[in-house]
Formats: sequence, C-alpha cells, structure tokens
Amino acid sequence: MVGGSRRVGLVTCAALLERDLDRELLRRALVEAGVEARWLVWSDAGVDWASWDLCVVRSTWDYYRAPEAFLAWVARAGSLTRLFNDPGIIAWNAHKGYLKEIEAMGVPTVPTFWVQAGQEARIEAAASALGAEALVIKPAVSAGSFQTRRFGPGEAAEAQAFLTALSAERDVMVQPYMASVDGHGERCLIWIDGKLTHAIRKTPRFSNDDERVSEAIEPTPQERAFASAALGEVAEGLLYARVDTVLDDTGQLRLAELELIEPSLFLRQHPEALDRLVAGIVRRLA
Ligand SMILES: Nc1ncnc2c1ncn2[C@@H]1O[C@H](COP(=O)(O)OP(=O)(O)O)[C@@H](O)[C@H]1O
Ligand SMILES: [Mg+2]
Repeated sequence: MVGGSRRVGLVTCAALLERDLDRELLRRALVEAGVEARWLVWSDAGVDWASWDLCVVRSTWDYYRAPEAFLAWVARAGSLTRLFNDPGIIAWNAHKGYLKEIEAMGVPTVPTFWVQAGQEARIEAAASALGAEALVIKPAVSAGSFQTRRFGPGEAAEAQAFLTALSAERDVMVQPYMASVDGHGERCLIWIDGKLTHAIRKTPRFSNDDERVSEAIEPTPQERAFASAALGEVAEGLLYARVDTVLDDTGQLRLAELELIEPSLFLRQHPEALDRLVAGIVRRLA
C-alpha cells in the first residue's frame, strides 16, 4: 500500500446482545480494499485511538445505558482520530429531542408528548394531547427497543404505572401507536455517503422482541425526497445515516427516528451500499 498501511477502527461495544449482520461484511470489504481494519470497543480504556487513522462508529449498541460516558468517549476519540459520523452530529443525535427541531423545519415527525425526567405526568393528558388511545411509551435516549412498550385503550392504569416509573429516571416520549407499522411496516431508508442506497422494511418490535427485516426495497420518489428533507443540511457531511419512517392514518410519511450514531445499514441486502460505504471510508482516508 502506497504511503504505508492505513488503519481503520470499526467501533463496537463490549457485549453485543444481538448479532451485527453488517460486521464481517464491512471488515472484510475494507481489508479487500487494502485497509487494515479492526474492531475496537469504545469503552475499552486500553485502545490507543490516536494510532488509528480513522474510526467508524458501528455497533456501539449499549451507549444508551451510559450516554454521558459514551459522549465523553466520542469527544475524546474525536480529538485523537477522525471519527465518523462527526462527534457533534453524534452528540446531537443521542437524544430524540432532535425530532422537535426537524419538525420545526417542516418535516412531519411522529407526534410526541414529551415528559422530562422527574416531571409528574398523567397518561390521560398525553392521550388527550395526542388525540390517541393506543399509545407507545419509550425513553428519549434509547436503542434496540429498550423499555419500549405499547398500551391499548383499556390499559391506562398499566400505562400510567410504566410512565411514572420510566420518567422517574429518564426523559420519556409518549406517542400514538402508529398502526402502519403492522401492515406497511416501519421503512428504514439507508443513506451512504451522499446518496440513498436502499430501503428495508421492519416488523414492529417492542421490548424483548427480535428484530425482523426484509430484503432490499427500492425507495419511492416520495421517500427519497423525505429522506433529503429530514437529513437537511447535515446530509452532505455524513458517512452513513438511516431515516426511519412510518405512515400516519392519512398515508403521510412521518419521521420516527433519524439514526446517525450506530444504525444497522443492512449491507447484506444491498452490496452496492457496502461498496459505497467502503469507497466513502477510503476517500476520507486519502
Ligand atoms: N409510535 C410508535 N408506533 C408504533 N410502533 C412504535 C412507535 N414507537 C416505537 N415503535 C416500535 O418500537 C421500535 C423501537 O422504537 P424506536 O423509536 O425505533 O427506538 P429505538 O430503535 O431507538 O429503540 C420501533 O422499531 C417500532 O417497532
Ligand atoms: Mg428504531
């Protein structure tokens, strides 16, 4: 390799609770592109981050359990190596309060009743503000459906108990249950280095469920326009992103989540996305 070997750290967590299906595909493709690529654990104090030319955050799926420690690591690693996505983007994306900013830009998001940690909250107030009887309650800092539960119209007491317990510890989101997740599904739009590459469909998933996903789907023109609007002006600088969407009862696309930290990119489903990600990393190394 001209100019010596180029070293890319792929960043994961100490214990993966589920399989990362992108994992070996990405490392192997980087090695085939002539790059030294190795998996590193973000919370491992023994890693010399400065010895890596570039690091890509991938399966750091435990970060929501220790968000402050994770964001401190992001800032530190960002000062020692080149970290992707950008440390500032990662910090912004770690709390789903960013949905309010995106909504304010004119991009429809899933309606949300926000409850701050420690704040007293009544489920009736949330239901009436949202105009919904079937609700989802989940943490504002989360991943992998952690503490994410669905409650039907007859379950107000259970919903109240869950809301009270969860909001005692953390910021909480209450949302209408978006029924389209059952039929149409949650659609994840995958963005690699400046381009939407493919979409996949996810079946609904609450605490303790497994993740089930489709093969690659060609994004519709509406989905392409929606993804660009949702990513807004940060789009160009991103190495990767995932725009998770649902449909509301009127068929309108709504943003469920913007995943800029550690999204699965479903690379197996679409080899071109893998090639594009590797090319994006190699270009940033140059
Ligand atoms: N408002 C909602 N309506 C229907 N399903 C939801 C809703 N919010 C979350 N879910 C389900 O819970 C899963 C996890 O929620 P999500 O907001 O994607 O958080 P995270 O992926 O960070 O855990 C979603 O993939 C979806 O299946
Ligand atoms: Mg999600």
